[in-house]
Amino acid sequence: MDKLLIRGQKRLKGEVVISGAKNAALGILPAALLLSDVCTVENIPNILDIAILRRIMESLGAKFIDIDDYTLRVDATNVSSYVATGEDMHRFRGSYYLMGALLGRFKKAVVTFPGGCNFGSRPIDQHIKGFEALGAKVEIQHGHIKLSANKLTGANIYLDVVSVGATVNIMLAAVKAEGVTTIENAAKEPHIVDIANFLNAMGADIKGAGTDIIRIRGVKELKGNVVHSIIPDMIEAGTYMIAAAATRGDVLVKNVIPKHMESLSAKLVEMNVKIQEYDDSIRVWVKDRLSRANIKTLPYPGFPTDLQPPAAVLLLQAEGISTITESIFDNRFQYIDELKRMGAKARVEGRMAVIEGGSKLTGAPVKALDLRAGAACVLAGCVAEGVTEVSNVSYIDRGYERMVEKLNSLGADIRRVSDSDSA
Ligand code: EPZ
Repeated sequence: MDKLLIRGQKRLKGEVVISGAKNAALGILPAALLLSDVCTVENIPNILDIAILRRIMESLGAKFIDIDDYTLRVDATNVSSYVATGEDMHRFRGSYYLMGALLGRFKKAVVTFPGGCNFGSRPIDQHIKGFEALGAKVEIQHGHIKLSANKLTGANIYLDVVSVGATVNIMLAAVKAEGVTTIENAAKEPHIVDIANFLNAMGADIKGAGTDIIRIRGVKELKGNVVHSIIPDMIEAGTYMIAAAATRGDVLVKNVIPKHMESLSAKLVEMNVKIQEYDDSIRVWVKDRLSRANIKTLPYPGFPTDLQPPAAVLLLQAEGISTITESIFDNRFQYIDELKRMGAKARVEGRMAVIEGGSKLTGAPVKALDLRAGAACVLAGCVAEGVTEVSNVSYIDRGYERMVEKLNSLGADIRRVSDSDSA
């Protein structure tokens, strides 16, 4: 395992280009398995989760051709296996999309339970509810989920919880089902729209993605030779917007869709951060004192849960008492203890973190406990006085492409060393 050595008190200035959306790519690549043909996907982020997903898909018979660093041609013609049970499956959450994709193609699937960041229980009951509604039999044996259906038939599915994963997985299983499937109380994240657009480009018939009611009319076959470019990663973009504000810098975040950033941009403006939106970029800078604020995470278009750990670092820079209420996951404040090692004054009361701003952060050894918590530790290191050591860097590699290079190009001072090296 590597670690990062971060010398702090650097104001981030300059331009940073955002990569393709991890959570769109994690749905789009499995969606290519629905097709017994070739398709091309552009703007794929170069991150660990994608590398693992590619390895799993190759083990099923998919062939990948690297057109360039960010473009893949996927040939799923000879995919013959519907069994994805290697240990890779448990290394990240996104492997769950193989359930919907393999069920949709073969009417069968045997997959290992997904892994993913550990911030509370992460059930998949809504995924299974959707698959069963479509006519699949679901058995859980020896840590594997076994799905099988004689026929997949359109159904009306009401999600008890707004679930990104279940919304996408049901879409994947329903695109070739007989008849019409309706998903009510669907998640509305931009990456769901991106995945639906990719499926429609292949000839699927999906309407309403991005709203809370998605209608999927089943089609017999999908067509190949589609080229799809993945949308920018709104969570990566938000992380750099917050980094610019937390270090009192001035950063132009490029290759973004400003509309996707609205909930964060509004919160930053509320905190007295300057925001200038352009067609595909946003400038973030700080002139005056930051104001305290209250944040409540919600499904899109609310404030994204994936940005609450980085946002906590920003709230620590604002005088006064701020709060973060985490309404999506039941245990996503573990990173607060790591920030406390750097001098943060904060306490967690159930699903609320109370943050006392104005406390000076000083460098310390901290651990990345999950992907976004790791990003929060890196941002805190950029702000803190002295040197911060962030370990478990592979968490960060899972979802942020070249984060060290991108931050150093903005003036940060970060070195990646192996765990055995000292500061
Ligand atoms: C996706 O996770 C993302 N991961 C997460 O991003 C993100 O935090 C989350 O959506 C919310 O936006 C991927 O897309 C790979 P959910 P997912 O299903 O699908 C409950 C990151 O850092 N629930 O929308 O697991 C669940 O416990 C990661 O990129 C059920 O109860 O999230 C949670 O409380 C972290 N039953 C809520 O719904 C289910 O069957 C939302 O979860 C499914 C979910």
